[in-house]
Amino acid sequence: VVMKEVFNTRSMEEELQAKLGVKEVHVVPGDSDQFPWVKKEMGRTCVNVIKRNLAMQGNIIAVTGGTTIAAVAEMLVPDSDLKESLFVPARGGLGEQVENQANTICATMARKAMGTYRLLHVPDQVSKDAYESLVLEPSIQSILKLIHSATMVIHGIGEAQTMADRRDTEEDVLAKLKEKEAVAEAFGYYFNKSGEIVHKVPTIGLHLNDLESINTIIAVAGGASKAEAIQAYLIKSPSQVLITDEGAAKEILAKL
Ligand code: BG6
Repeated sequence: VVMKEVFNTRSMEEELQAKLGVKEVHVVPGDSDQFPWVKKEMGRTCVNVIKRNLAMQGNIIAVTGGTTIAAVAEMLVPDSDLKESLFVPARGGLGEQVENQANTICATMARKAMGTYRLLHVPDQVSKDAYESLVLEPSIQSILKLIHSATMVIHGIGEAQTMADRRDTEEDVLAKLKEKEAVAEAFGYYFNKSGEIVHKVPTIGLHLNDLESINTIIAVAGGASKAEAIQAYLIKSPSQVLITDEGAAKEILAKL
């Protein structure tokens, strides 16, 4: 039975890799929509991938928010390589609750890994004027510089409607997302099923085109309910590592 499980997961990984066109895929058994421990397993796998991709020195690890990346943080343990790492949030406030915010997760990761961290303090809803003056603040400039020199990014992918609801999105934006048929969300960007950007939450930090220059990009997202979102986001994203679960993997493969 165990051998069969192992075999099935591996063949799913290979098939997903080829069909989604990503560099590397890891599938953990189970469906995180049904069992919370599956998220922890994705977290454990992610920790291994992080360690394997660390450079000798100068690691700057940018992280997004969400319950999945929070599970990655939970699974981190002190490690001599990670100790030298600096953790930063990938983007400013996106309207998440404190425990799901990138800042919180980044601080937890640094504590668990015995590394260091820097936070990005920007309000969730920034007007254009406020944004323009905020980015000129020396303290914000210095953290933004670090974020833009990230060597690794670890991010979640969300289902568009779920994320919009979770963030208490304004009515007009909700209507826009519906009209433009948004199915996926990552880094505060919303995408339709062809992977095109249909909306962007205004905040500072990493932008999608910044990802092109980052060596290691790890997406962690699972659960059958996220299948369409994962596939949509990956269509146009740069080559990267995907860590998912059997629930999402089966659903994606059934539709491809
Ligand atoms: C958010 C990220 O905090 O978490 C999003 O900013 C991501 O980009 C989302 O889509 C995923 O959340 P979860 O809880 O499903 O892991």
